[in-house]
Amino acid sequence: MNHFDYRGGVLCCEDVPLSAIADAVGTPAYVYSTATLERHYDVFKQAFAPRDVMVAFAVKANANIAVIATLARKGAGADTVSRGEIERALKAGVPPSRIIFSGVGKTEDELAFAVEQGIHQINVESTAELDMLARIAAAKGKRASIAIRVNPDVGAGGHDKISTGKSDAKFGVSPDTAFALYARASADPHLTPRGIAVHIGSQIRDLAPLEAAFRVMRSLVERLRAERFSVERLDLGGGLGVPYFNEPDPPSPQEYASMVTRVFAGLDIALAFEPGRMIAGNAGVLIARVVRVQERPRPILVLDAAMNDLIRPAIYDAFHEIRPVRESSAPRIEVDVVGPICESGDTFTKKRLLSPLAAGDLVAFMTAGAYGATMSSTYNTRPLVAEVLVRGDKFQVVRRRWTVAEQMSLESLPE
Ligand code: LLP
Repeated sequence: MNHFDYRGGVLCCEDVPLSAIADAVGTPAYVYSTATLERHYDVFKQAFAPRDVMVAFAVKANANIAVIATLARKGAGADTVSRGEIERALKAGVPPSRIIFSGVGKTEDELAFAVEQGIHQINVESTAELDMLARIAAAKGKRASIAIRVNPDVGAGGHDKISTGKSDAKFGVSPDTAFALYARASADPHLTPRGIAVHIGSQIRDLAPLEAAFRVMRSLVERLRAERFSVERLDLGGGLGVPYFNEPDPPSPQEYASMVTRVFAGLDIALAFEPGRMIAGNAGVLIARVVRVQERPRPILVLDAAMNDLIRPAIYDAFHEIRPVRESSAPRIEVDVVGPICESGDTFTKKRLLSPLAAGDLVAFMTAGAYGATMSSTYNTRPLVAEVLVRGDKFQVVRRRWTVAEQMSLESLPE
């Protein structure tokens, strides 16, 4: 469920017409609903009740500090993958005790920052990383809380490029290596192994691979405990899919939670999750204006949004529903929808059925709140896209559009 609906023939975000935002802020712009963000957090969290689980929002899905702060106020933690994301989480009010740091390429500087901040958990993904972290913590005279990221050799996800759990993927270590690293960390005075972590992919629409991966995790916890290692936490990652329209609905958070409860029945352990898309996906849209229509047997709508603003269709062939901001009952026709960028990859969709649109009309790309703005760029020297947060009948620009002068101000002419 989300808070984007037609009212009086105009698509609104909560109580604000998207046309009002377009007029005030310009296009393209991402628009997020506070109510939807909050609702998705609550639905996920409550699916596990009465069990209290940690929900660490995957910041990569939507890194705007206003979005992180909205979730942090509800009690969410943050799953981060760079020093920058940790800094954003802290700035947005997430306490270090609710920050998780994942990723295969954490640098010395990033690990040192995480250790200094005393974050909840660093998910270690290799032997070399464990050694580097132990050395850094020792030099600082600190103890780092860690989990070992396990590669369960189970892949899943909406596209090959976002599947992370097979043994040939770069992520995590095998269960046997995880066991060895756990033992090694337990003997290190500067490391506290708290548990194990897993994440097998994104936009997962089937519970079976998740369940298979979670069974691998359960047996590893049991194996570790049999050797008298303390295992307090299980981090089960993110990955739950969202409906992108015209495809079967993914499992609900309730179905997901009952599978998790079944797999880990009787195991006394604290659970953490790292959902990104499930929280933010349907909480955001990208609004754009039709610049002109290229006359072809099948008309081509050229928008003022492009692949630099929303890259998912170009790199994952992702489907985003496109809705006209002004509702229309005119019979729909087949059109292609593109951006102005200098390559054919800058195509949002082909042969889409839409009511006829003309230059100046507004459209909204639905389900764009996750991996939309975070993957945007300034390709073709286009201004970095603006972001707006709506709450009730109010809206606020939470990232203003960069000017070209601001982009160039980071550059210099050769001496
Ligand atoms: N935890 C870890 C360790 C991850 O790598 C990811 C996503 C998540 C959590 C959050 O997964 P989610 O709940 O959002 O599925 N750019 C792609 C998605 C990449 C996902 C990368 N990792 C897209 O636009 O579809």
